[in-house]
Amino acid sequence: MDNNQKYKEFEQKDKEAGIGGGIDKIQKQHEQGKLTARERIEKLLDKGTFTELDKFVTHRCTNFGMDKTKIPGDGVVSGYGYVEGRLTYVYAYDFTVYGGSLSAVNAAKIVKVQQMALKNGAPIIALNDSGGARIQEGVESLTGYANIFYQNTMASGVIPQISAILGPCAGGACYSPALTDFIFMVKEKSHMFVTGPDVVKTVTHEVVTKEELGGAQTHASKSGVAHFMGNDEEEVIMSIRELLSFLPSNNMEDAPKQNCLDDIQREDESLMTLIPDDPNMPYEMKDLIESVVDNHYFFEVQPHFAKNIIVGFARMGGKSVGIVANQPNYQAGVLDIDASDKAARFIRFCDCFNIPIITFEDVPGFLPGTTQEHNGIIRHGAKIVYAYAEATVPKITLITRKAYGGAYIVMSSKQTGADVNLCYPTAEIAVMGAEGAVNILYRNADEEARQKAIADYKENFANPYRVAELGYIDEIILPRNTRNKLIQALEMTKNKSVTNPPKKHGNIPL
Ligand code: HXC
Repeated sequence: MDNNQKYKEFEQKDKEAGIGGGIDKIQKQHEQGKLTARERIEKLLDKGTFTELDKFVTHRCTNFGMDKTKIPGDGVVSGYGYVEGRLTYVYAYDFTVYGGSLSAVNAAKIVKVQQMALKNGAPIIALNDSGGARIQEGVESLTGYANIFYQNTMASGVIPQISAILGPCAGGACYSPALTDFIFMVKEKSHMFVTGPDVVKTVTHEVVTKEELGGAQTHASKSGVAHFMGNDEEEVIMSIRELLSFLPSNNMEDAPKQNCLDDIQREDESLMTLIPDDPNMPYEMKDLIESVVDNHYFFEVQPHFAKNIIVGFARMGGKSVGIVANQPNYQAGVLDIDASDKAARFIRFCDCFNIPIITFEDVPGFLPGTTQEHNGIIRHGAKIVYAYAEATVPKITLITRKAYGGAYIVMSSKQTGADVNLCYPTAEIAVMGAEGAVNILYRNADEEARQKAIADYKENFANPYRVAELGYIDEIILPRNTRNKLIQALEMTKNKSVTNPPKKHGNIPL
């Protein structure tokens, strides 16, 4: 064979490897409304930038006649490319090859890109669509998962790790996505569960569809496992690209700065009437967030889960910020178990990746009741204070209205390490609301005395001035100036340098 023939042979083999399980399987994948692994990667990365690695790897299994069917690539497509010109590693399970099941060599391919991503300090995206462990390979496949989980854990907090679930993801296979920073799912097309409906029926006698058990809606709204939900794969893939734009490539960098055409001194008169005169009336906290961030654009994370707290990314003066905000429009913005978990995880992500945190606070307290207590609101609520206290990124807090009791303390108060604490003149910072306080202090008083006590309490405590006198609030600001004041605070803290005591790692209450 001369060299020309060798080149031709290579081109032929390369072409064959490029169609994975073959035309029929690709057609079946399309019929199910799913893209193939390579199509997904094409859409995710900047056009023409994908470099595929290990395209000719084949499995080494001889059980069940497997030695007679070897498909180049073996069920995973992996490599690297660019998103908005920034290096990004990616691997995608190829459902057209043995249902995207994980063989030992697939696992080795995945571990290879995981290690490259870690070594070279760039994000890694996993596109999941797999029947789980390659049944024919038995325990070799299982140990492949272990290797992937180990790399996920080592990379945690060093490079952003993002998972998209674009088909089935069952059993222990769920734990790789679960170890990553963000999970995306597609409505009705993707499922995640530790045990499927059949096993559930056998063990607990519950009858449940796979959609109810582990569909996108379930994980985006009930379990909180998923952070984003798209109507189709395209939407999911575009959202991943957008998420990356807010993040640095690794924990040693700052997030990329964008040109800011939005006036940093822009005032908003409508904010002067956002907070209702009646402190028991709700209002939409997202109106405030969207008013003050660049171009009014807020990229919300977990919008359907624990809606009493809002988390997400935005830009202020062109720089990425993480936003944590109580939502008075949903359960009065009370803190409960799910809200605590949601906020704490987001705060820790921002701290890992040098993203300053802005907290908008209007919180009546922690949710009372046996359900919350018995399920460990103490343990879960502690996560918020832990996450804020250990975070060394710039932390700016703005109290818009209620800041009561323990909730005031945990929501990035001065004493838990916030750098700049602002509030509106409408802030009420106290141990508890006036009615609650008077119910305790004047339990046996008549109605007239009680009403007077409530009025006195409101005058003396339901305002920002007691706290401002003590220096726990740095500045009282008018709502119309919020954007300018927050950007000023971010600018002032941009070179903040704080380190926590040396330790192996802390022991956050889990
Ligand atoms: C080998 C598999 C496979 C697997 C699917 N296939 N899963 N091959 N190992 N785990 C093959 C099928 O035999 C079929 O091959 C092709 O992939 C497509 O599968 P279909 O069943 O035709 O597709 P569909 O109807 O869409 O159903 C998809 C599915 C189903 C829901 C994923 O295939 C399924 O239930 N698979 C088994 C899931 C499972 O129990 N996995 C092990 C979980 S335990 P042909 O040649 O016919 O096209 C686990 C432990 C991990 O993963 C622990 C980590 C710690």
